[in-house]
Amino acid sequence: MSKAEFVQKMFDKLSQDYDFMNDLISFGLHKLIKKNAINNVPIKAGFKILDVCTGTGDIPLLITEKFGDSVDIIGVDFSGKMLEIALKRAIKHDNIKFITADALNLPFEDKTFDAVFISFGLRNLADLKKGIIELKRVTKDNGYLINLDMGKPKGVLGHILRFYMFKLVTFIGKLIHGNSTPYKYLFESAQAFPSQDELVRIFSDFGFKNVKNYDFAFGAIAEQISTL
Ligand SMILES: C[S@@+](CC[C@H](N)C(=O)[O-])C[C@H]1O[C@@H](n2cnc3c(N)ncnc32)[C@H](O)[C@@H]1O
Repeated sequence: MSKAEFVQKMFDKLSQDYDFMNDLISFGLHKLIKKNAINNVPIKAGFKILDVCTGTGDIPLLITEKFGDSVDIIGVDFSGKMLEIALKRAIKHDNIKFITADALNLPFEDKTFDAVFISFGLRNLADLKKGIIELKRVTKDNGYLINLDMGKPKGVLGHILRFYMFKLVTFIGKLIHGNSTPYKYLFESAQAFPSQDELVRIFSDFGFKNVKNYDFAFGAIAEQISTL
């Protein structure tokens, strides 16, 4: 099975428990981190925003919580089941639309969006470089690219967090969700993913400017914001 097929099937299966499990394993912190990550971006009224790998729609909903319908947001995901939940959650918000599509082949013209978000998504793509090229293609000149994902934790507390994430989260996942595969995958994919420092270099190499990194939870989660 290809990585894309594995990831799509896994999120289809996980979809019903996804929000509950995220709240549980992060003690609700993932929402706070996503809010802070959004606060770091100079979003303006009138922005056209894309959220790639939108899942159940946290990013479009949190942006709308802050900016109302002054911004238009499209969430894209290849898991129909995750999008079904996103659609239900965003039913009252006409400024949010969802499209089923592959992040590696986005159905948009070049230079369409003022800001392109990808939250806990880049790590899942079968081809990181192809993914970044596609994200870049749909970003307007002077537009923003925002990546939020697992980072490499730093210091003693960072190592404790890593231990928690890798051991306890897998155990809790098995206990509550009944299947530890997604949580083992979370660990393995986070290990294989470039560090925040490497990502800063990678985005710069791809022609993004002013690449800034923000660490959350002692670097266990990190956000890179850059402009084109
Ligand atoms: C960990 S979830 C993140 C969801 C959401 N962005 C969040 O922050 O909670 C990853 C999502 O990426 C989607 N995904 C992974 N690879 C994809 C691809 N190639 N194209 C579209 N969606 C993809 C999965 O279906 C899943 O919904």
